[in-house]
Amino acid sequence: MKRRDLLWGAGALALVGGSAAAISFYQTGSSEAYEAAALDARSTLAQNPDLKDLVRYATLAANGHNTQPWRFHLTDGRIEIRPDLSRRTPVVDADDHHLFVSLGCAAENLSLAAQARGMPGDVRFDPAGEGAVTFDYARGAAVQSVLFDAIPKRQSTRSEYDGRAVTADDLKALADAAAVPGVDVKLITDKPGIARVRDVVVAANSVQMAQDGFMPELKSWLRFNPRAAMSMRDGLFTATGGNPAIPSWLGPIMLDLTMSASSENDRYSAQMISSSGIAVFTAEKADHEHWVLAGRACQRFTLQATALGMKVAYMNQPVEVESFRPELASLIGLPGRRPDIVIRFGYAPALPYSLRRPVEAVLV
Ligand SMILES: Cc1cc2nc3c(=O)[nH]c(=O)nc-3n(C[C@H](O)[C@H](O)[C@H](O)COP(=O)(O)O)c2cc1C
Repeated sequence: MKRRDLLWGAGALALVGGSAAAISFYQTGSSEAYEAAALDARSTLAQNPDLKDLVRYATLAANGHNTQPWRFHLTDGRIEIRPDLSRRTPVVDADDHHLFVSLGCAAENLSLAAQARGMPGDVRFDPAGEGAVTFDYARGAAVQSVLFDAIPKRQSTRSEYDGRAVTADDLKALADAAAVPGVDVKLITDKPGIARVRDVVVAANSVQMAQDGFMPELKSWLRFNPRAAMSMRDGLFTATGGNPAIPSWLGPIMLDLTMSASSENDRYSAQMISSSGIAVFTAEKADHEHWVLAGRACQRFTLQATALGMKVAYMNQPVEVESFRPELASLIGLPGRRPDIVIRFGYAPALPYSLRRPVEAVLV
């Protein structure tokens, strides 16, 4: 099994199942309390929100490994989203690509939320220093959008989907929502095309799982039960991938016992083939500014998908393992470019939501 897609194998489940009753509450915590915290983080934005409440909506954005690698600096008329480099994931994201994409995702949420509450503004990238995203806003007309409404409902759903096709109208709505200047979005919905991307994902996954440091880094961001997830309020809670809660001491042991490239590849393969389609996002250039743009595009895409009743999940192995980028770029007809993000989409029931740190923890 792999990182963000954590389903224990059947044998392992039996092993855990037998002892689950004996696992004491104090080791894993309460899933009801977890659900309440996840819902609280997603409560509807106030009609006249303060800046902190807008930041809360920004932080509901997708972000790599749920590291929440951002810090918000608030001044009158400007909200700045700065990278939090203490939350880097240097093995899976050596050049901070995902980190800057994540800032773009947050900036898009922020912009949509502010616009919906009468504070429209402009998102820009400021390359000074470590680089930051600025959002300059002013009082103006409140503009509602289905993308805004979808912010608290969006989630990464790492399960098999039901294989239903998406209508042409809905595919157009997805493409239109994701249209951000400087970013190409390729939608692949034919079965042979999906299978070709699947093959690259699976091949990249095999290489990635054997990479030095990949598993230790992943383990450091895994939360195996509600108690661990709620104490950190970041990282990848394994229940969001449909797994039962287990004590933190048992989690890494179970990973080592049950995880293999082959079982992971089987699972990824089934997930991709069950999806209605794949979206591949590729910015015109490979720099911080364009990674932020790619983040904005993919956040808009996933919000539109959510608004249309779909689920989404990221499958980024072929962009994370550098040697697979040329093959993926050729597959989508953009040879020589660096693909940024791979997302599958389709229809499935929701899984538990992930948590976020409190706003106070992400303010400068
Ligand atoms: C740049 C980026 C890369 C990501 N890569 C993956 C990935 O390869 N596999 C995966 O399962 N999730 C991936 N995710 C999804 C995050 O893990 C997810 O957004 C985060 O855990 C928060 O959960 P949520 O999306 O349900 O709010 C990625 C997200 C971003 C923004």
